[in-house]
Amino acid sequence: MAEGAVLLRRFAAPMQDELRDALREIASAAPFRQMVTPGGFTMSVAMTNCGNVGWVTDRRGYRYDPIDPDSGKPWPSMPPSFRALAARAAAQGGFANFAPDACLINRYEPGAKMSLHQDKDETDFDAPIVSVSLGLPATFLFGGAKRSDKTRRYRLTHGDVVVWGGPSRLFFHGIAPLADGEHPLFGRQRINLTFRKTV
Ligand code: SIN
Ligand code: FE2
Repeated sequence: MAEGAVLLRRFAAPMQDELRDALREIASAAPFRQMVTPGGFTMSVAMTNCGNVGWVTDRRGYRYDPIDPDSGKPWPSMPPSFRALAARAAAQGGFANFAPDACLINRYEPGAKMSLHQDKDETDFDAPIVSVSLGLPATFLFGGAKRSDKTRRYRLTHGDVVVWGGPSRLFFHGIAPLADGEHPLFGRQRINLTFRKTV
């Protein structure tokens, strides 16, 4: 896709049942919720997290927090299967020994989107971002280091994994509004797991 960025087609598909079961458990302990941006907009994507810290946004800003603000409890721990999948994908993308401490879980229902942004709330930019797509297909927009750089569109389908790091670690990216559909395993939604090493 770019220097430091690869798209691994169907990489996570063999683990789909395991991932679905783990996701169900995580979401029962830390339900998906639509968070509010610092500017006061409610995001169309519903989110939860697992791992040592979770990405959150509210009127105070964006940050990683060890506590789920909705429950007052730590986020569910990252299942070993998630950790292993992320490390294998990163290695395939040329990043050895990826040890994520956070997994943001995004749930897109039809119409939900994610505007162009950089992942820059981490303090470690040496580690890549590993992003796993499950369920309905989506259009991933992948640009460059500047917001104004031209974006390319990639159709991400169930099981696809994108790894970006090194020269493309801070590249702008986003998701176009999700088209309606029905996935045999995940139903009327797309789930995205985004693994990060925050510190
Ligand atoms: C994100 O950038 O956090 C999400 C990307 C995606 O849903 O594929
Ligand atoms: Fe992102």
